[in-house]
Amino acid sequence: MNIKAVILAAGKGTRMKSETTPKVLHKIMGKTLLGYVLDNVKRITDEQFIIVGHQADDVKNFIDKNYANAKTVLQSPQLGTGHAVSMVCPSLENYNDLVLILCGDTPLIKEETLTKFVEFHRSNNSDITVMSTIFENPTNYGRIVRENDNSLKCIVEEKDASPDQKLIKEVNAGIYCLDWSKVKSAFSQLKSNNAQGEYYLTDIISWGKTKNLSVNAYILENSDEIYGINSRSNLATATAIMNKRNLEKYMEQGVTIVDPNSTWISEDTEIGQDTVIYPSTYIEGKNKIGKNCKIGPFAHLRGEVEVCDNIKIGNYVEVKKSKISSNTNVGHLSYIGDSELGERVNIGAGTITANYDPLSKTKSKTVLGNDVKIGSNTVLVAPVKVEEGANIGAGSVVTKNIPAWSLGITRSPLKILENWVKNKLG
Ligand code: UD1
Ligand code: MG
Repeated sequence: MNIKAVILAAGKGTRMKSETTPKVLHKIMGKTLLGYVLDNVKRITDEQFIIVGHQADDVKNFIDKNYANAKTVLQSPQLGTGHAVSMVCPSLENYNDLVLILCGDTPLIKEETLTKFVEFHRSNNSDITVMSTIFENPTNYGRIVRENDNSLKCIVEEKDASPDQKLIKEVNAGIYCLDWSKVKSAFSQLKSNNAQGEYYLTDIISWGKTKNLSVNAYILENSDEIYGINSRSNLATATAIMNKRNLEKYMEQGVTIVDPNSTWISEDTEIGQDTVIYPSTYIEGKNKIGKNCKIGPFAHLRGEVEVCDNIKIGNYVEVKKSKISSNTNVGHLSYIGDSELGERVNIGAGTITANYDPLSKTKSKTVLGNDVKIGSNTVLVAPVKVEEGANIGAGSVVTKNIPAWSLGITRSPLKILENWVKNKLG
């Protein structure tokens, strides 16, 4: 494949106004912005470099933990997008094939679009290709300035644009494909004489023109895909776009979504045919849901949830990192975390798996065998196992393993004081 990716993720993200989280680690339905970009890019490139700078340790830890094959490169101080790319020059000194550059704050881009973009670059024998799109409201994006013959001239940033240039609706998506052998020398020649005093990556367009390189734009029709996140408001808009896209996909695959306006389902969730998702359900992270299931209303799946066929997860039920086998019901008001539930299990209303020990700060597993029935308002204190066919009486606190086909019950005896109320009233 011989194509390397460079993802820019060093910027401060000032407009996000966050003290705790670098911009690219903000999340859309449980997955970071950078995660979206990397998941797409890693399938079509053979090496990925992530430029880190602001809160570099956090971003680097995230990469090391989740994308062990990707490499982080430090940019300090952060002097602009062009300066950011120049940080990989030493690593790619002897490399002479394609480099795909993207921003870590553009999570809606699709893998198929990136593939088409690279194909366009190759089939046009382009040296520099930039992705552009048309925005009715182009504010804040770099504008694509064209010559009279419609060929590219340069990209001008909002802050440097003249009133006429601000009227241009064709914008820079921040995604580039470069023939590295021809373009690598540009990065030591960029200047910072602009409104922001930064080394702009966008200046490679005009640089390429002065070197008589083949410089082209690939115009993306679906402009939603390059929507960039610079503020919390952008984050909410991108989340809504992503969700709409996901729900359409699930409905096309034969999933009923009763109310798309109040349902949120992440991109990395698989859902089987004829499953019905009821209103106000929120499903984030990576999950697998089987066929003929009923989820919601008001259900929350928090990721790493694997659910087989014909199961029910009802109102006010939260499930995290758990496996639920077929024909099992978790109907109402329950928390199921770090658990394995067998087939035909029934979980009574209000059941909680107490999976977290705050003293040791560890999480433990709850394992329920096939045909287990848990009475309402039970607390299963993990680590705990209830073996096949066992029943737990309502209101129990289960701190020991329960053998197969037994009853576990911790209820204190019910007292009845006859006429107690009558006597009080006198
Ligand atoms: C940039 C483009 C703009 C384009 C827009 C698309 C430039 C100069 N402008 O503007 O033309 O329309 O993206 O979304 O390139 N970053 C670094 N190091 C730095 C500065 C930024 O790694 O020194 C990273 C940021 O973390 C971010 C990306 O580069 O992921 C883009 O930076 P940002 O400040 O968001 O640029 P925009 O103003 O959005
Ligand atoms: Mg941006």
